[in-house]
This record gives sequence, structure tokens and C-alpha cells, in this order.
Amino acid sequence: MMGKVIFSLLLALPLVTLGTSSDKKCVLSGSWRNELGSNMTISAVNAEGGFSGSYLTAVTATNKRILVSPLKGSQNHKSQRKQPTFGFTVSWTFSNSVTVFVGQCFMDDNGEEILKTMWLLRQEVRSPGADWKATRVGTNVFTRIKRQNVDESVRSDGPQ
Ligand code: BTN
Repeated sequence: MMGKVIFSLLLALPLVTLGTSSDKKCVLSGSWRNELGSNMTISAVNAEGGFSGSYLTAVTATNKRILVSPLKGSQNHKSQRKQPTFGFTVSWTFSNSVTVFVGQCFMDDNGEEILKTMWLLRQEVRSPGADWKATRVGTNVFTRIKRQNVDESVRSDGPQ
């Protein structure tokens, strides 16, 4: 009898493990780095899906000194999706440009979170005639540096 119980438990173990790993949600909050070496930190995502944060780019299209810049964004269907879509805007403090990012938060094959994004960088130009050269486009992939701890996210989600 005891042998049967142990045998059944051994059979069930891989199912339990599989269940927990595929249930893991990709969470935007925390610190991320992309392949250029840029870093960003995203605050807790609020009940409406809104979030804010900061972005330190590793590169610039200008000759200005790089400074940390604020970002604001929103996640679609907060807490219902395991791999949610999102968008955010960075309003650069050290240039007259803005960048909009859109992307999706994925769980990769190793169970690690990655953000696959596309961006448009809009530069200020002198006149409509220069509009053709005002927008750059590209992609960035972000991996997690640090996860925001649960206490912090409960505090910033909860009533103030
Ligand atoms: C500017 O040069 O006017 C502002 C900085 C732009 C940095 C861009 S945004 C898209 C790409 N991804 C990054 O992490 N940095 C560059």
C-alpha cells in the first residue's frame, strides 16, 4: 500500500513542477537592461495598467551629456495575461526628442522574463521640409536586472 502511494506521488511530481513553471507571469515592474546597455526601472503597475519609471540610455543621437529621463506607460489587461503587451514613452530630459516603445513581456524557454520591443525616436526638426529625416525606428530586447519585491508592489498598489 505504502509503495503504491509513493509510486503515485513520484508520477505526479513532474506534473506539479510543469504546472508551476508554465503558470509564471511576466511582470513589468523592476529593473531592465537592453542589448545597447541602456537601463530602465519600471514602478509597480497600477490597477488600470498604468506605470511610470526612469530610463538611462547608453547611447544618444545628440552630442549632449546623457541624463536619466522619465518614462510613462501602460500595460494591457493588467493581471489577466501571462505575457502582456505594453507601451511607454520616454521624454528625454537632455534632448528635444521623445521615444515611444511598444512590446510584449515574454517568459522565454529558460523561464526568464524578456521584453521584446520596437521603438520610434522622434527628433525635433526646424521645418516640415525636414520631417522626412526626423524619425528613427528600431528594436530592443530587455532582460531583467532586478525584480521589485512583493512588499514594495503591495505598498504602491494599495490605497494611499
Ligand atoms: C536622444 O538621443 O535624443 C535621446 C536618446 C535616445 C536613445 C535611443 S531610444 C531607442 C534606443 N534604445 C535605447 O536604449 N537608446 C536608444
